[in-house]
Amino acid sequence: MAPSSDDCSWLLYLSLAAKCGGDPHRLLAFAAVFAVAFVVTALLHWAAPGGPAWGWYWWTRRAGLGILGAAIPGPRGLPVLGSMGLMTGLAHRKLAAAAAVDKARRRLMAFSLGETRVVVTADPDVARELLASAAFADRPVKESAYGLLFHRAIGFAPHGAYWRSLRRVASSHLFSPRQIAASAAHRAAIASQMLAAVPGAGVVMAPRRLLKRASLHNVMWSVFGRRYELEVESEEAAELKSMVDEGYDLLGQLNWSDHLPWLARFDLQRTRARCAALVPRVNRFVSRIIDDHRARLAAGDAASAAAMDFTDVLLSLQGADKLSDADMIAVLWVRYALADDMIQTEMIFRGTDTVAVLMEWVLARLVLHQDVQSKVHEELDRVVGPGQTVTESDTASLVYLQAVIKEVLRLHPPGPLLSWARLATSDVHVGGYLVPAGTTAMVNMWAITHDPALWSDPEEFKPERFMAGSPAADHAAADEFSVMGSDLRLAPFGSGRRSCPGKSLAMATVGFWLATLLHEFKWLPAEESGEPRGVDLSEVLRLSCEMATPLEARLVPRHGA
Ligand code: HEM
Repeated sequence: MAPSSDDCSWLLYLSLAAKCGGDPHRLLAFAAVFAVAFVVTALLHWAAPGGPAWGWYWWTRRAGLGILGAAIPGPRGLPVLGSMGLMTGLAHRKLAAAAAVDKARRRLMAFSLGETRVVVTADPDVARELLASAAFADRPVKESAYGLLFHRAIGFAPHGAYWRSLRRVASSHLFSPRQIAASAAHRAAIASQMLAAVPGAGVVMAPRRLLKRASLHNVMWSVFGRRYELEVESEEAAELKSMVDEGYDLLGQLNWSDHLPWLARFDLQRTRARCAALVPRVNRFVSRIIDDHRARLAAGDAASAAAMDFTDVLLSLQGADKLSDADMIAVLWVRYALADDMIQTEMIFRGTDTVAVLMEWVLARLVLHQDVQSKVHEELDRVVGPGQTVTESDTASLVYLQAVIKEVLRLHPPGPLLSWARLATSDVHVGGYLVPAGTTAMVNMWAITHDPALWSDPEEFKPERFMAGSPAADHAAADEFSVMGSDLRLAPFGSGRRSCPGKSLAMATVGFWLATLLHEFKWLPAEESGEPRGVDLSEVLRLSCEMATPLEARLVPRHGA
């Protein structure tokens, strides 16, 4: 391989150092020249719009003053490090504030994360352009994602035959309308378990743990065919939960080595070490489940088509779709653990977290806005009937509850930056600018859903804005509004070829479980010294954007216990 210009400058410095011989003065002078050259180069790169990574790009293109017209506007950040600070804490809010400086930055803003060039948009038209473009069909793969096998799962697999095959298999065997209908019985069983797990009347509870366990059990059931009781702490479910928590933490953190490769060898944040410790546990766990399925098949106990779980489906694949054991583990792990990567585990990661996080936000908003909760109760009594059990087919008629869910997705999108970024695989024009191959691209969905130019009173909780025909319907959303990715003013599941494949399943699960919990109980604020306590809506951004303080509510049965 030919040395890059970067390698060449190192060769030049080395040969100059060699010429100094052993003379300490000459070596010192050389070191000083080297240090000055380094500082000057770093400052020159840093001076470019977007900071050092962009400066380096323009420098290698010998753009000269041409940079003035071609460069994407954006903050410079610090020399060498760029704007790493923008991606810590509540990154969606910091990026929105940085983009609010002018209109051009809202459309497309460049910044640097160490050596990584990044662009972010807070404009729905540019977001559509970006998400729909074939040039952005890949994702940047973080060290932790590699370490945890996610590059073999749907969420991070490079765009190509393998990814297409995984996505096809998942679409037809997990996410098709037929499969979603077939798994309704699982969701109904888990909904009953949730009701049974709620403590006695008037007792204050924090629903987060219940919601997370319910989501995890739901994914476990459809992906691994494993059924657990919510109230019984099984060893297997506890092991899975601890692996998922660890995976979440690793994938959610900003890993400096991803952007400053010269730091990677030190593993300062222990990302590599923790991944290396987690993967054997995952392998053992998922292999055991695959072996159980194989043993059942060998014993002639094949599941009927309707009762097949996702592991059965993966084992039944033949020909071009057939997966190796390693790929199968990856797919399964990512489904269950993060619901995003390898088919199964990926589902765990993606499906578990997001669904539970969204439900907690909805309940928090309803505890805070009792008037809205009363309207939800009126609708439930009208559609389902007081004292009747909610069924999944009722949810299509619960239009006000659907509007509440949409309004919560707008105010608190679980993936405010659409979770995982995209990667430009070729030079491409976006928003009128050239975005070079290798650039990481993000959509700040949170900034779009809080834009006063797109939404009236964007900070207000107004589900009516999504009620078609209602006098309060938002000018931006007066018609039936789809959140599935066709309208980029509110696309919490992304859009384009890498949009969330689990969106219909997610909406079916969230709608049905919320309807069940709300039909049975009034959700009231917890009390402190006899006074209702407020609801703390502060956020914390991990893999998803969660409530920083878990919701606590007092539940009162609605239909006489
Ligand atoms: C409220 C719930 C959910 C939200 C808000 C959500 C959101 C997202 C977002 C924003 C993306 C990236 C889209 C893009 O790049 O355009 C995504 C991707 C993905 N989601 Fe979801 N998701 C949810 C539930 C689920 C569920 C239940 C599953 C599976 C059980 C799932 C599986 C996936 C997978 C596999 C991907 C990666 C797709 C790819 O790269 O090809 N998600 N999701």
